[in-house]
Amino acid sequence: MPRNDKDVAVVLAGLGQVGKAFARLIAEKSGPVRSRYGLNLRLVGIVRKRGTLYSQEGLDGASLVSEAERPAGRPEAWLKDLPLSDLLGKCKPGVLVDCTPSSIRTREPGLGIIREALCMGWHVATAGQGPRGLEYAGLKEAARRAGVDIRCSAATAAALPTLDVGVISLAGAEVLKIEGILNGTSNYILTRMEEGMSYGQALGEAQAKGIAEPDPSLDVGGWDTACKLVIIANAVLGTAVGLKDVGVEGIDETSDQAVRAAAGQGRAVKLLGGCLKDEAGTGWELRVGPAVLDPDHPLFGVRGTSKGITFTTDTMGAVTVSGGKSDPRGAAAAILKDIINICIL
Ligand SMILES: NC(=O)c1ccc[n+]([C@@H]2O[C@H](COP(=O)([O-])OP(=O)(O)OC[C@H]3O[C@@H](n4cnc5c(N)ncnc54)[C@H](OP(=O)(O)O)[C@@H]3O)[C@@H](O)[C@H]2O)c1
Repeated sequence: MPRNDKDVAVVLAGLGQVGKAFARLIAEKSGPVRSRYGLNLRLVGIVRKRGTLYSQEGLDGASLVSEAERPAGRPEAWLKDLPLSDLLGKCKPGVLVDCTPSSIRTREPGLGIIREALCMGWHVATAGQGPRGLEYAGLKEAARRAGVDIRCSAATAAALPTLDVGVISLAGAEVLKIEGILNGTSNYILTRMEEGMSYGQALGEAQAKGIAEPDPSLDVGGWDTACKLVIIANAVLGTAVGLKDVGVEGIDETSDQAVRAAAGQGRAVKLLGGCLKDEAGTGWELRVGPAVLDPDHPLFGVRGTSKGITFTTDTMGAVTVSGGKSDPRGAAAAILKDIINICIL
């Protein structure tokens, strides 16, 4: 019997590392997504700082990225004065993909873009921790009012399925504790320190390999982990916490000796984000900091840029997932997963 594929318009905001990987991925995966899920994903718009591109028929994301990467890529192709609301109003609402930079201070530009899309009846899949982590309740309520969905797998450890496991796979179980290695950069540095490098050498190597940013402070200072932890806590535990509720210590103060001493005892220092019941057992304490793990800890073997998370529950025991690509393509794949699940569930 012929199947009626569902047409889904996609608008991409932000054409940096993740945005480009997503534009390439949607071109690469459009055939398999159509045949497997009956979804015809059409990239109709791209919003950049320098302008907006729109095509009702659909844009070829892969060619546009190649063109954008050329130093003299056709800037005239980028329409300069098409406000986001006009672009979103041009077609039946689909999914707005937010790959803009996420400032944990201002939350912009992601927050404004997401709010506008939700108001106009567009679903949202965002890679940015800033808006989603710090405005969780408000954005969820805005989405509910508009009758749409907002998802942020890419903002919560990219390809590692943290929210899907916590929200869907553990439904009905009481989550008693969450522990996660949620930042690949810090984990890479700690792994290399364990192997004998100093903190400075390991950081320098991570920067040379493109694993660490030129300014690594959010990663090594524990703030990236804290943002992810806040989103996970609010989604999985139903809390209404913000960054101010998290005790944060990074690995920038961790001594080389402490890492090597732990390794000498067969243990390992990891930057752990944890949600633990508070002393009264009624609320939650959120903490990020270096922790010494014994070999029998489920996250002990998570090394290099890998990440992992353990949910301890009342009925399902401890459930751990680890691995997942920790790069822009992995983040783009997490966005694609969110789009598919938004459209088929
Ligand atoms: N990199 C990763 O592996 C990774 C993984 C998971 C999550 N994330 C998150 O994903 C987001 C994007 O990360 P990224 O690494 O791709 O950053 P990026 O390379 O800095 O790219 C961000 C892009 O956003 C665009 N932009 C800036 N202001 C804008 C505005 N007002 N309107 C529209 N576009 C705007 C810029 O594109 P133009 O210059 O073309 O305007 C810029 O290239 C961040 O929130 C990050 O935290 C990144």
